[in-house]
Amino acid sequence: MGWLFFKKTQIAIRSARVSDSHDIAALHSEGGFSGSWSVEEIESLIADRAVITDIACDSRKIEILFGFVMSRCAADEAEILTIVTGRKSRGKGFGRRLLEAHLPKLAGFGVKTLYLEVEEDNKPARALYEKMGFVTAGIRKGYYRKPDGSFANALIMKLGLDSL
Ligand SMILES: CC(C)(COP(=O)(O)OP(=O)(O)OC[C@H]1O[C@@H](n2cnc3c(N)ncnc32)[C@H](O)[C@@H]1OP(=O)(O)O)[C@@H](O)C(=O)NCCC(=O)NCCS
Repeated sequence: MGWLFFKKTQIAIRSARVSDSHDIAALHSEGGFSGSWSVEEIESLIADRAVITDIACDSRKIEILFGFVMSRCAADEAEILTIVTGRKSRGKGFGRRLLEAHLPKLAGFGVKTLYLEVEEDNKPARALYEKMGFVTAGIRKGYYRKPDGSFANALIMKLGLDSL
């Protein structure tokens, strides 16, 4: 019997292109969000110079996407609009890798403070953000409407990028 060698997937982080919009829409639909983003909306977000989008992709086939993160900049602040890794790609460190590349890039564009909103019960996302150094800066009670009609609190989290 011969040996079987499984090559571990190597990921690379790159900037998004408008041609990634279909795949980004597909990833976004795996995010469990109440609203979906159309391909056209994503195209215009990527084309917007104030919006920075980074992709986690297969390093050998960069058109294969595993996840993305998108932030909108305004003066020296920015907000993470969303971050998603594909369902099969979770728990492999891809979300962390995305943010480890994305944060210094934002700092390079002059962003000093980064904000985001996250559902209070979203444990994986909160774990990722807390590990990256985000702290809770506020709470919006009943901000999210869940598919079952109930409401969930949103936490506002913040991270200073000065030291990056
Ligand atoms: C949130 C999300 C992007 C995390 O991506 P990921 O690729 O699975 O995260 P990683 O594997 O890089 O994990 C990052 C850290 O969070 C922790 N973490 C990830 N999933 C976790 C879970 N289910 N429970 C507890 N901790 C978890 C990991 O332990 C890891 O810490 P480590 O680097 O010290 O080991 C992913 O779960 C996702 O796409 N969720 C759906 C969309 C979503 O909710 N986005 C956030 C909107 S605010």
